[in-house]
Order: sequence, then structure tokens, then C-alpha cells
Amino acid sequence: MIVTARLLLRPPMVTDASGALEMLSDADTRTWNPARSVVDLDSAARWCAELADWSGGDHASWSVLDRQTQAFLGLVSVHSINPTQADAEIGYRVSPTARGRGIATEAVAVASDWAFDNLSLVRIELVHAVANPASCKVALRAGFPLEGLLRQSFVYGDGQRYDEHLHARLVTDPPPFIARSA
Ligand SMILES: CC(C)(COP(=O)(O)OP(=O)(O)OC[C@H]1O[C@@H](n2cnc3c(N)ncnc32)[C@H](O)[C@@H]1OP(=O)(O)O)[C@@H](O)C(=O)NCCC(=O)NCCS
Repeated sequence: MIVTARLLLRPPMVTDASGALEMLSDADTRTWNPARSVVDLDSAARWCAELADWSGGDHASWSVLDRQTQAFLGLVSVHSINPTQADAEIGYRVSPTARGRGIATEAVAVASDWAFDNLSLVRIELVHAVANPASCKVALRAGFPLEGLLRQSFVYGDGQRYDEHLHARLVTDPPPFIARSA
């Protein structure tokens, strides 16, 4: 569990299903970070249960909750963990009603802090479509400088192939300047 002044990050629970379904039904989420298996509450509950299972060692995933109200705000996942290379990737989604308040920035910053501290990672990569500028802001503010442009590198949820930005944060980088402590 990760606690900040306003957020609580914990492994997903099946009780997050309705919040997850709302988030995953949003048009931007369906384009930029879809979960195609989720079509109703039952499949959303299964998705949450799968993300709660960290036993494979390949990911660490958290539901992001409002610390006061426990409302579901989003989900962040350190995935594609490669212990040999000491690297991983990070992905994130925020519920449409919670956007524009820095939730993703804070969640990505503290989840990557946790991953450096607990998984002995050296590098975490963050990739987003150039056509998704909100995600670029999240990356830069969460301490992931831009490293380059990947041309026509990924087919997103709308079936279109997009250029992407590659960002990364190294364990040796200075921490991002955001409020993060409880
Ligand atoms: C991208 C996403 C995670 C951002 O979540 P968030 O909690 O709103 O992010 P933050 O509030 O930390 O920062 C977003 C910033 O982008 C800005 N932004 C939002 N839409 C924008 C747009 N279309 N163009 C430019 N900036 C935009 C916001 O205004 C904010 O900047 P500001 O604080 O200067 O106003 C959220 O929009 C989302 O879940 N989108 C769908 C899924 C997705 O794109 N996931 C990431 C895939 S790589």
C-alpha cells in the first residue's frame, strides 16, 4: 500500500469493478489504454482480480483511491518487469471525473518510487502516443524526461497506428517535485 496526503494506492479488489468499468468505458481510455476483455461488471471484477495477483513477478498494479472517501480514481501498473535488465514499463488510466487534478502525475511518481525501492529497478520506461498530450504532461511532471520519438510504433485502441514518445526515469534521476508524503 502506498499512501500520500490525498491518495491511497493498493492492489485492485473486485469491489473496484464498477469504478474500473466506468473508467474503461470512457472513449479516451478505450483509445489510449484499452482493456478489451472488460465489457460488463463481471469482466471488470475478473480484470481487477487478475491485476491483484502479483505472484508472477511481472507486474505490480494498484487501484488509485481518494484517501478520504476511498472513491476509485484510477489505476497504475508497473508492468513488463524484467529482473535481469532491472527495468520495467509503467502504464496508467484515470477515471474521466477525476482528471485534471494531477492524480495520474502523483500516482505515477509514487508508484515508480515504490518500484525503484522495492524491485531494485534501474530504469522504468513510459511510452505514449504523441497524439495524447495529457499523457506527455503526466510523464514529464512525474519525472520521466523525453528520450525520443518512436515512428508509427503502436496500433492503439482505435485501430490506428501512431507515433509515440519514449520517456524514462532512472533510479539516479532527481525525484520529481510533487507533494508525495502522507
Ligand atoms: C492521460 C490521463 C492518465 C491523465 O490523467 P490526469 O489525472 O488528468 O492527469 P494530470 O491531471 O496529472 O495531468 C494531465 C494534464 O494534461 C492536460 N490535458 C488534458 N487533456 C489535454 C489535451 N487534450 N491537450 C493538452 N493537455 C491536456 C491537463 O489539463 C493536465 O495539465 P494541467 O495540469 O497543466 O492542466 C487521463 O487523461 C486518462 O486516463 N486518459 C485515458 C487513458 C490514457 O491516456 N492513459 C495513458 C496512456 S499512455
